[in-house]
Amino acid sequence: MIEVSDKLGTDGAASTGIADSGRDVPIDLQEELRASQIQEVLDKLDRELIGLQPVKTRIRETAALLLVDRLRKKLDLSAETPTLHMSFTGNPGTGKTTVALRMAEILHRLGYVRSGHLVAVTRDDLVGQYIGHTAPKTKEVIKKAMGGVLFIDEAYYLYKPENERDYGQESIEILLQVMENNRDDLVVILAGYKDRMDRFFSSNPGMRSRIAHHIDFPDYTPEELLAIAKLMLAQQHYGFSAKAEEAFIDYIRRRMRMVHFANARSVRNALDRARLRQANRLFVAVDQKLTKGDLMTIEAEDLLASRIFREPVPKIDSSCG
Ligand SMILES: Nc1ncnc2c1ncn2[C@@H]1O[C@H](COP(=O)(O)OP(=O)(O)OP(=O)(O)O)[C@@H](O)[C@H]1O
Ligand SMILES: [Mg+2]
Repeated sequence: MIEVSDKLGTDGAASTGIADSGRDVPIDLQEELRASQIQEVLDKLDRELIGLQPVKTRIRETAALLLVDRLRKKLDLSAETPTLHMSFTGNPGTGKTTVALRMAEILHRLGYVRSGHLVAVTRDDLVGQYIGHTAPKTKEVIKKAMGGVLFIDEAYYLYKPENERDYGQESIEILLQVMENNRDDLVVILAGYKDRMDRFFSSNPGMRSRIAHHIDFPDYTPEELLAIAKLMLAQQHYGFSAKAEEAFIDYIRRRMRMVHFANARSVRNALDRARLRQANRLFVAVDQKLTKGDLMTIEAEDLLASRIFREPVPKIDSSCG
């Protein structure tokens, strides 16, 4: 058990100016962890998300920082709420939205936001088409997100340097103000491709300076994508046969080389189509008796029927399956 207790000498507090309240009361860190139920969320993150080791480590570190900050507050040691606005960068389907949802839960459990809900938006939700429309739109979104997390996907579309007076700028200015003045009640997460986000930050230093945590989401390896597929299937009481597992690895290696490949999202879409084919396969065999195993199993043919295996040079098409 780790205990945080006052290690200052009797005159330590006086000489450092640290407030006296509670300095003799040891704090039980385990108890604080239990009370916040933060461990549950972290364990769930570990269990339900494959790979993402650097992301998980950063989330743990952030949770530890916040927990310690909370303990310090109890001892009157903290001066101000830490800045919690974040940027999540990575390719499509790498888990940014999913992790943002978990982050909202963590922030809520640690008392950094009142409700822990997440409002996910893009430029169109924030920026109007006509003069005078942007401010009310942005403010409406902020109002909805207040007390929780505002997740702005592809945040860089807010900034269009080619348009001299783009309404996006107006939205950015309102956001900047709220990010500064309401940071004890609203956490903003900006998400998108890394290179575009870097460019966005270099042309918007105000935004950069308000973001304290940058978390990068790496692409998944084929093995991780297989593990994600198996997890997704298990959650829906399906599974691959041994041959299907091999076919899936083959499928995913081909799919990865195509444009519009979207990591775990492509896996989810591929599985949706495989289930459709499985259902069709079972349906045409109406005269056969089906076992529970039949209903649960994705066979190799459910995957091999994909267009991907018929097109040696894959077409550039996002709907390939
Ligand atoms: N590491 C993972 N383990 C298991 N499932 C995952 C993992 N990463 C993502 N997923 C699943 O893949 C899908 C896509 O993930 P998510 O929407 O979080 O990605 P994203 O980075 O926000 O994508 P986009 O850029 O397309 O918005 C979700 O259904 C999510 O549950
Ligand atoms: Mg997303």
